[in-house]
Amino acid sequence: MARLAVVGSNNIDLVAYLPRMPERGETLEATRFEMGPGGKGANQAVAAARLGSQVVMVSKIGDDIFGRNMLANLQEEKIDVRHVRVAPGTPNGIASILVDAAGENMIAIVKGANGHLMPDDIRLAEDALKACRIVLLQLEIPLETVYATIGFCTRSGCKVILNPAPAKAELNLRLLRGVDFLVPNRTELAMLSGMPTTAGEDIVAASRKLLQAGIATVITTLGADGVMLVEKEVVLHIPAVPVKAVDTTGAGDAFIGAFAHFHAEGKPVAEAVQLAAQYAALSVTRRGAQKSFATLATFDAFRSALPAKGQKGERLRPPKR
Ligand code: RIB
Repeated sequence: MARLAVVGSNNIDLVAYLPRMPERGETLEATRFEMGPGGKGANQAVAAARLGSQVVMVSKIGDDIFGRNMLANLQEEKIDVRHVRVAPGTPNGIASILVDAAGENMIAIVKGANGHLMPDDIRLAEDALKACRIVLLQLEIPLETVYATIGFCTRSGCKVILNPAPAKAELNLRLLRGVDFLVPNRTELAMLSGMPTTAGEDIVAASRKLLQAGIATVITTLGADGVMLVEKEVVLHIPAVPVKAVDTTGAGDAFIGAFAHFHAEGKPVAEAVQLAAQYAALSVTRRGAQKSFATLATFDAFRSALPAKGQKGERLRPPKR
């Protein structure tokens, strides 16, 4: 069984479904409200666990009812919570989410307890991390903790997947040396590289700039435009699986959790990316973040209904250096 660790956030998601996004200063009536477990870290952990990985989570939860709900939720998902600790006197992380009729979202997060996950917490979890093949990180926790985890993993030989979300201009590229897989979206790639990311060739050029910074593989998620995988000698575009999107919240997390699971299980990178793109496509057909993530059995049923040749990746020639 694949063993993974997630060092990251837990949020309670408060989601309003609207016919369209409100204008600045406008009050708009929502058609529906839902509350559920979220946070990029926990979402990625849950996606991998539902597919069958053994997942350990390193996280800080709030000293409140939301925090207690987060813990119960992770336990229900059979995630190892030995390193999920309460931040005393601190509220849980919260995400206020608007979703429009096209399934697109806008998210405001309040870090809460997630802001209290410190390098000391990583030191306490070293044995658990060392036992894992892959460690997943995002940016909803302090950057010093992200850098400390990358440093530890590099020294211990665990692979690191970094999802640089939400985008942070102050992220220090030099300290990302040793990241095996960087998984940004288009906006995050533009911010990190300082380059345009509009066309396919822009994305390849921006990814190659990050490879020069010492990152082994850049996998950019492009929503309806699919996924671009760039390594030193490989450029592969994987088209999206066409589905009717109801709610795209957490689709990137579904992708990353699934990619980590399939790669840790031994699938080659390109195949793990293709499977992850299919898993993320299924997630956008349902509402919510974790609520929309399929079990392995449901995912297998979805895949068997896909057209056989529907989603082959196109290998592009790496640009001359
Ligand atoms: O990526 C989606 C997640 O972003 C939501 O679950 C929300 O909690 C925010 O962290």
